[in-house]
Amino acid sequence: MTSPLRIERAGEIAVVAIDNPPVNALSLAVRQGLLAAILELDADASARAIVLHGAGRLFVAGADVREFDQPPASPLLPELLDRLEACGKPVIAALHGAVLGGGAELALACHYRCGTADLRLGFPEVKLGLIPGAGGTLRLPRLVGVKSALDLMTSGEPVGLGTASALGLIDIIIEREPLEGAVAYARDLLAAGANVRRVRDRPVPQAAGASTAFFQAYRASLPRALRKTMAAEHIVQAVESTVTLPFDAAAARTRELFEACRASTESKALRHLFFAERPARPAASLVRPVASVGVVGAGTMGCGIALAFAQAGIEVTVFDANTSALASGLERLRTMLDSAVQKGRLSDEAAVQAHSRLRPGGSLNDLGRADLIVEAVFESMAVKEQVFRELGAICKPEALLATNTSTLDIDIIANASGRAPNVVGMHFFSPAHVMRLVEVVRGSASAPDSVATAIAVTQRIGKIGVTVGNCFGFAGNRMLQPYGREKESMLLEGATPEQIDRALEQFGMAMGPNAVGDLAGLDIGASARREWKHRPDDARYYRISDLLVERGRLGQKSGRGFYRYEGQDRRPLPDPEVTELIHAEARRLGVPQREIADREIVERCVFALVNEGAHILEEGVAQRAADLDVIWCNGYGFPRTRGGPMFYADTVGLRYVLESIERYGREHGERYWAAAPLLARLAREGGRFSAA
Ligand code: COA
Repeated sequence: MTSPLRIERAGEIAVVAIDNPPVNALSLAVRQGLLAAILELDADASARAIVLHGAGRLFVAGADVREFDQPPASPLLPELLDRLEACGKPVIAALHGAVLGGGAELALACHYRCGTADLRLGFPEVKLGLIPGAGGTLRLPRLVGVKSALDLMTSGEPVGLGTASALGLIDIIIEREPLEGAVAYARDLLAAGANVRRVRDRPVPQAAGASTAFFQAYRASLPRALRKTMAAEHIVQAVESTVTLPFDAAAARTRELFEACRASTESKALRHLFFAERPARPAASLVRPVASVGVVGAGTMGCGIALAFAQAGIEVTVFDANTSALASGLERLRTMLDSAVQKGRLSDEAAVQAHSRLRPGGSLNDLGRADLIVEAVFESMAVKEQVFRELGAICKPEALLATNTSTLDIDIIANASGRAPNVVGMHFFSPAHVMRLVEVVRGSASAPDSVATAIAVTQRIGKIGVTVGNCFGFAGNRMLQPYGREKESMLLEGATPEQIDRALEQFGMAMGPNAVGDLAGLDIGASARREWKHRPDDARYYRISDLLVERGRLGQKSGRGFYRYEGQDRRPLPDPEVTELIHAEARRLGVPQREIADREIVERCVFALVNEGAHILEEGVAQRAADLDVIWCNGYGFPRTRGGPMFYADTVGLRYVLESIERYGREHGERYWAAAPLLARLAREGGRFSAA
């Protein structure tokens, strides 16, 4: 194996290059090499300064995430960085591209830092359920102050060169080739008689950041979901120890906090998602070029999809058979871009460019030259079949045709086009220009290159594409059915909409299912269920949702659904009228009402979801349990800190999940609670979905 570390000489400057593709992660061999290099150069009188450089397109993207599951191996990063900082001659970090996590901590341990325009410096550990454990919590506050350090570490978001410089993280900006510029900077430093300068020797700026009250207020100011995480809490505690303890004592405390995070289920779950969300890139030979896209349907979904492509630099033609819908769609696109600029998600310039890539189509024929056409018309089989018949007649032969249906049978839609091998499903989630998930649905005739092209273009527009098979609801919405079915049953059995939402939000769901239903429109789900040919013959099935629709309570859009809404305020308010409706319906159906514990609410909803997931895996509709986790965390607001439903089932133990499902079967009937054979087998064998 070639060494991931090289030492080169530029006169009296020694250049240490970390060369560990693809992202120069600080794996064991890199740490060993770096320690050896520092020891050697510290003792070498011919080297007067050391430049630390990352070979390739970035400096260092952090610790090697794969190593967090293994026992720690020496030299540990904190020890290595302490030794590097102790070096007797100036060490200069030549920063370019990504400088993340352990890479940023490495930079802080150096005595000087220079950076180029493409710099992205940040501490994403919190997104892996970890704290910066190699001196970040000790050195960053000393450099940028307590408040800015906390902001950087709890958000996990990287900053660019401008902010890094303004914060004092960068000493000098390099406007030429990174390494050449860094070596020149090192020479200037030597010429000016500069010496070592250690961040650990600086005092911690005490100003506003010293008091217990400050840290309490800081915790309270964190976003709700983050405030509850162990990682964010431990970051705050680590910085508190930096403020109150000497460097080495605070370092020891930080180590304990880091280890507690590393061993936590929260961090294991987030690490699981880190890898699950990086699916293999399709073979280049299978991927067809996509330079232009046509979108059919200028409703909310069509506009979101069009914008997602336009923002990623792809030309888009939008067509809608209804000319006034097209006009309002174009208006909506402008509003969406303006709002993205206002929210700081997009620069003015990027918005102008995205807008210039969007054009209206006068007729469907204007989509004839597009490489990819995404259909996003009304969710009705008859309408979709008609669109695909027309697309089949006008599109160029190699065009990829995709339907954005969320539940309908792809094969029927594909057959209507007369070119089924070129048809796939691309199920975007609303709002499509923001949500990262796309289910790429493989029909029975979809050609491998069609699926590969769909996945590749999804990745190109910055989204996560998961390939799933064709069945009602595919993977995500199919799992949603039993999840919703249980919450609907529990409404009849005596839980209120607000109790159910509160219990599931406490569990970590971004929103409770009743509030979600109100947001999406209860009529949408009701009409999808009507199209489902396997709908159970059961008077209780989704009875409350259907009843609310019958009463004209469609959700937020009609001001009333499971909750009531006042004016423009989207806050759900409990509605006694709904409680009354539910009581009366339970009486009519002969369902006795009772107190239901929050724990039962969570278990019945989540285990029903898991059981359906097991069926989906067995049938080959999804290939890996991790894919279902990715789908539910990115499309349905499942808590990332629990790793997704299948990973969560693994962590509570499949035996427990099986026993609970069997118990619910005895209490509520086998009809819905028959355990999936895969789940039963894994539970018996002591297995896990993530290892299956
Ligand atoms: N440890 C181990 N592997 C890593 C890694 C890390 N810290 N960061 C990235 N990788 C791997 C990816 O899994 C991927 O592997 P694969 O090709 O086998 O799928 C490969 O490096 C390339 O990463 P990818 O994300 O596809 O490249 P990119 O160019 O799109 O993005 C980064 C590069 C650095 C911006 C991005 O990889 C990233 O944000 N990494 C995470 C950094 C992080 O969280 N560091 C803190 C660790 S505590």
